[in-house]
Parts: sequence; structure tokens; C-alpha cells
Amino acid sequence: MSASVRIGIVGLGRLGRRHAENLALRVPGAALVAAASPIPEERAWAEATLPGVTTYPGLSELLGHPGLDAVWLVTPTSLHADQVIVALEAGKHVFCEKPLALETADCDRVIAVADKRPGQLVMIGFMRRFDPAYAEAKRLITAGELGNVFSISCRSEDPVDPEGFFVRFAPTSGGIFLDCCIHDIDLVRWMLDGAEVSSVSAAGSRIMYPALGDCGDVDNGFATVTFKGGQVATFHVSRTSHRGYEAAMTISGTAGGLDIGRSVPRRPVAVETGGCRRIEGQVDFFERFGDAFLQEARAFVAAVQTGGPTPSSIADAREATRLACAMREALVVG
Ligand code: NAI
Repeated sequence: MSASVRIGIVGLGRLGRRHAENLALRVPGAALVAAASPIPEERAWAEATLPGVTTYPGLSELLGHPGLDAVWLVTPTSLHADQVIVALEAGKHVFCEKPLALETADCDRVIAVADKRPGQLVMIGFMRRFDPAYAEAKRLITAGELGNVFSISCRSEDPVDPEGFFVRFAPTSGGIFLDCCIHDIDLVRWMLDGAEVSSVSAAGSRIMYPALGDCGDVDNGFATVTFKGGQVATFHVSRTSHRGYEAAMTISGTAGGLDIGRSVPRRPVAVETGGCRRIEGQVDFFERFGDAFLQEARAFVAAVQTGGPTPSSIADAREATRLACAMREALVVG
């Protein structure tokens, strides 16, 4: 292994560019040496923006880059499982955006290959674990400060998008539970230390984006998960927020509770006049979680340099997919 971890990124879209800039400029020990996209404009962006990076049209060409240690996948979700397998079989460590796959059976195919290659790391991008607020909640629970946690309520909301981006994105994203709720599912399991699930129920509505019906998706999803230890978690995921991006969680325990991220203002100013309270600006996704993406990247590179393990396991990623699939199925069958 070279002193720096030599990384090739695949996928330079909405999120891939952010990862690429972090890896090129802000992650100690990382050397971004290659970038792949089938879209010529994205390759031109990489050549102009990322110093010393060689570009390729796809994963197979990028794997030929000399001396690569790790592959960083930020591609459409429907490609993840096969691409992780190809990268592992080429002998690389793999970071892959969430979710690992759209079906549990595909996660199992990945795990079967990863199990044969214990020296290679695989980490799935559950970056909220690196957000200071969620990390502090986990620390307080582990320290016993909330007593026995018996209820967690999660809300993740994307702003209303007049362009309907989510409608175009939905056919490859797996729908709102796999694409969006998967973060809260992973967090709840993390907070409850991998507690075993006993039941899942779900409901949903298409209130503003009826075209999501073409792929069975909804713009507001609701789910309840009960655990064998008696804990209950509720989830609300939405594409129709009028207050900007929001990721909130309320945790209740026998000795205390806490709230994360309710309507975090862009500026810490709330103006109160005439009996009204006005919060200035709306937080967008990268303002809320930009730093978490950076910390996540640093954690993966550090894990590769020290020989692992990664902070979250591939088994966790499988279980998150399994629960999100159960929510998707519960939505359909009632
Ligand atoms: P996007 O559609 O903007 O970008 C996808 C990119 O993948 C394309 O621009 C292209 O560069 C590449 N690509 C497409 N087809 C390819 C192929 N056949 N071979 C190689 N590369 C190909 O999508 P976006 O929003 O960047 O999402 C990518 C992934 O990141 C998804 O899995 C999504 O779930 C995940 N994501 C995670 C977030 C988080 O909160 N952690 C937030 C947003 C996305």
C-alpha cells in the first residue's frame, strides 16, 4: 500500500462532484487519481477542476488505472451491487454511496464476494453517522444518559421541487424508503445497537407528484417499526417540505430524551415581531450534511490506511436495505 490511498471515483453527478472535491482537496491521506463518468461534460469538469486526475468513461476502464487502491462509487443505486462486486474482484477497497442495493438478495451477492476478501474494506455511505448531532445522541445513549431508549421518531424532508427531479430519479433510486428513509433506518439501528426487528408497517401518499405512481413510489412515506426488545420507531419521509431540507429525530428513554435538528435555521436568528416568529432562509442539504460527507471520507481513508475496520459494516447496510424493502412491500400490500 502506498503512503497515500490512491482513489478512483465513479459517478460525477449531483453528489459525485462533492465527493470528488473532498477527496481531491480536503481528505488527508487521500490521492484522487482517476474519475469516471459516461457523460463527456462531467469528464471535462473533472479535468478542469481536479488537479492531476485522469478521466475514464466507466468503471472497467478506470480499474485499469495504474496503482489504484480504492474505488469510490457515486453512481445510480441500481448499479451499486454489481459495481461493488467488480471493484472487489479487481482487488480494490470500495466506498459506495447508499443504499448498497435495491434488493436484499443483491446485498447477499456482495457479501458473499466480500467475505472471500477479508483484507479489502467495503463501506456504504451512511454519512449521518458522522454528523455531530447524531453522533452526540449516540454517545449519550451509549453512556446511559437517556436510560433505556423505548421510542425514536424520525423525519426527513426534501424541499418541494417544481422541476420534479425526484420523479426522474425515482426509477433507479428504489423509491422513497430505499432512497431517503434508509438513512433514518440505519440511524435507528445504530442508536438501538443493532436491535432485532419484529414488525414493519407502512403507508404513503402522492400528494404533489402523481407521476411517481408510474414506478409505485410516493412523495410522502410513513412507517412504523417495532423491535423484539419492545422499542418502537416511527418514520416520516417527504419530498414536499416548504421549510427547506430537514432531518429531525426525537429520542425518548426512561431517564431522558433529546431532539435533533428541528428546523435548524440557516442563520441562528429568529425574528419575532407582531406575534410572529420568522426564521431567515432555508437550510439546504449540503449546508446540513456537507461536513458529515467530509468526515465520512476521512474515516474511510483512515480505515484503509490502518487496515480497518470501517465505522459501519456491510451487514448493517444489508439490514437497512432489508427493512427499507419491507417498508416498500408493506406500502403495496397494506
Ligand atoms: P446523479 O444522477 O446526479 O449522478 C449519477 C452519476 O453516475 C452520473 O452523473 C454519472 O456520472 C454516473 N453514471 C451514470 N451511469 C453510469 C454508468 N453506467 N457507469 C458509470 N457511471 C455512471 O445521481 P446522484 O444524486 O449523484 O446520486 C448518486 C448516488 O448517490 C445514488 O446512489 C444516491 O442514492 C446517492 N446519494 C446519496 C446521498 C446521501 O445523502 N448520502 C444524497 C444524494 C445521492
